[in-house]
Amino acid sequence: MSENLITLEHVSKVYRVGEENFSALNDVSLEVSKGAFMSFVGPSGSGKTTLLNLIGGLDRPTTGKVLFKGTDLENMSRDKLAAYRRENIGFIFQTYNLLPVYSVYENVLFPLILNGLKENQVRERVEAMVAKVGLQDQINKKPAQLSGGQCQRVAIARALVKDPLLILADEPTANLDSENSHQILNLMQTLNQEFKAAVIFSTHDEKVTRYIRREVKLEDGRISWDKPRNGTEIET
Ligand SMILES: Nc1ncnc2c1ncn2[C@@H]1O[C@H](COP(=O)(O)OP(=O)(O)O)[C@@H](O)[C@H]1O
Ligand SMILES: [Mg+2]
Repeated sequence: MSENLITLEHVSKVYRVGEENFSALNDVSLEVSKGAFMSFVGPSGSGKTTLLNLIGGLDRPTTGKVLFKGTDLENMSRDKLAAYRRENIGFIFQTYNLLPVYSVYENVLFPLILNGLKENQVRERVEAMVAKVGLQDQINKKPAQLSGGQCQRVAIARALVKDPLLILADEPTANLDSENSHQILNLMQTLNQEFKAAVIFSTHDEKVTRYIRREVKLEDGRISWDKPRNGTEIET
């Protein structure tokens, strides 16, 4: 059994745009260890989201392999791949992607229901997760009644409640002001340590760099560097 959570071997992704082929990722090889706290950086269009989508099993590479704990995602049926996402991966997006008609409680409950659990088995777990992200007083509110920072906290709780091995956070601070961004990054750093879930950010945000322990730079669909970082930012 591999020690790595994710291994990418010579991954390329080619999109067909009209008559043209466009290469969004080009021969990317990478290993992500358990409990990692890292980011993909690089200009808009460099392939960050494409890479997260391949790791998360939302899309498949044109060539190359994506392995999860040594198992090739390519060998999974659609149903197996959906189960892989539901059970192992938490997604966090720039635009939060909460269900607007549901309360905070129901949004965080939702992934557990999808995983076949009954509400009465998990009510306390959902409430504890909402409290962990500091929203116990907002638990019955709808997303429209919350600030952007609060919405992103709900999304973090929803991603973590199923105890995934990996969180993929695509530009999670892009819609937040500086103070809220730092609060969200602090929270994710704390939860990474507590829950041992690996986190991969994609980001333009320089602030993220101060928290993470590894940074991978993409340019035109290729890795241009991959280096360790301190990850020592303390609450400001
Ligand atoms: N579904 C798609 N069809 C065609 N081109 C795409 C598609 N998704 C992404 N691309 C292109 O692939 C490149 C990388 O996109 P993306 O991974 O979204 O970059 P980033 O997240 O770094 O901004 C961009 O040039 C984008 O236009
Ligand atoms: Mg993107």
